[in-house]
Amino acid sequence: MHIARELPLDQIMLGDSIRLMRMLPSGSVDCVFADPPYNLQLKGELRRPDDSLVDGVDEDWDRFTDFAAYDTFTREWLTECRRLLRKDGTLWVIGSYHNIFRIGAILQDLGFWILNDVIWRKSNPMPNFRGRRFTNAHETMIWAARGRDSRHRFNYQAMKSLNDDIQMRSDWFIPLCTGAERMRNQHGLKLHPTQKPEALLHRVLLASTSPEDIVLDPFAGTGTTAAVAKRLHRHFIGIERHPAYAEAAIGRVQQTVPAPFLGQVTTPSKRDVPRVPFGSLVERGLIAPGATLYDRARRVSATVTADGSLVCGTARGSIHQVGAAVQNAPSCNGWTFWHMEQDGNLVAIDVLRSVPIA
Ligand SMILES: C[S@@+](CC[C@H](N)C(=O)[O-])C[C@H]1O[C@@H](n2cnc3c(N)ncnc32)[C@H](O)[C@@H]1O
Repeated sequence: MHIARELPLDQIMLGDSIRLMRMLPSGSVDCVFADPPYNLQLKGELRRPDDSLVDGVDEDWDRFTDFAAYDTFTREWLTECRRLLRKDGTLWVIGSYHNIFRIGAILQDLGFWILNDVIWRKSNPMPNFRGRRFTNAHETMIWAARGRDSRHRFNYQAMKSLNDDIQMRSDWFIPLCTGAERMRNQHGLKLHPTQKPEALLHRVLLASTSPEDIVLDPFAGTGTTAAVAKRLHRHFIGIERHPAYAEAAIGRVQQTVPAPFLGQVTTPSKRDVPRVPFGSLVERGLIAPGATLYDRARRVSATVTADGSLVCGTARGSIHQVGAAVQNAPSCNGWTFWHMEQDGNLVAIDVLRSVPIA
């Protein structure tokens, strides 16, 4: 039985996701991002010789007795997600080789229609200590529409803009969550073993949702999805059953400031510097949506949007396109034309390209 009630918009709910999802009304969310338990305990494959887990995942929430138990759990939460999705809504599930193939088969059986599998390639993966197989350097995200007949949202231009005006590919090179973004407990230790990088969620939500859409995360953990949704002016519903994680997620969301909202798009490169799309600097938080850029003489200024495009009056596009438009020139190297303010001085945004990826 489903108890239809008001949507708990912009809240992190404490409890079991299947039980709580059953209380929400059908067809009420636009997008689901799910980062379910990985099922790592089952095979103990990530264990070091001393039996500790290589990536530190050793949690009650990740314990299943066998594949059948994991499949039953997977079928139940996916069934609820599908019921809660609007007809044209989409679902993202992230996982590793331990669980993603089982999840993929089950979601197809339930009627979801797979749109892409996206590889999140980690720039700084955990080494393989035993040396008996390859270093596991990626996770897989399945992106699926609710059904074959769904007219799903894909913000093609925003993705192209985020990638220097080149079509966004299905392999994403994004660092693990480190530094100030990593949530820590009072002893300075990692609060959660599998906190996802905000850059990953930035791209997911920018690709598949619109402002004001409702995004559900049934395994919210530290609230990464919720925080990024708030920053990008999307609504969220988070569910987490571990009180310490839920509490941390609530605090994190409270501290998140929505980006000044604007619209669209892009960037290219120089041969001798690493090819970094301007959009990825926005994703990594090196430059904030809403920041102002200037030309060297401060004659013109433009505003950075969430997908890495610039807006200046009626001109909108990549750092290069808008640089060219404001000079009435056929082309422009936006990296050297645009500057940001740092300690009262103007610095070319080119310097950001050399900030190492952790
Ligand atoms: C892989 S982690 C998600 C991490 C999250 N994406 C982040 O960035 O912090 C999975 C989370 O699901 C929670 N969880 C597991 N089973 C659950 C259930 N049945 N109901 C609610 N939460 C659950 C765990 O406590 C854990 O925090």
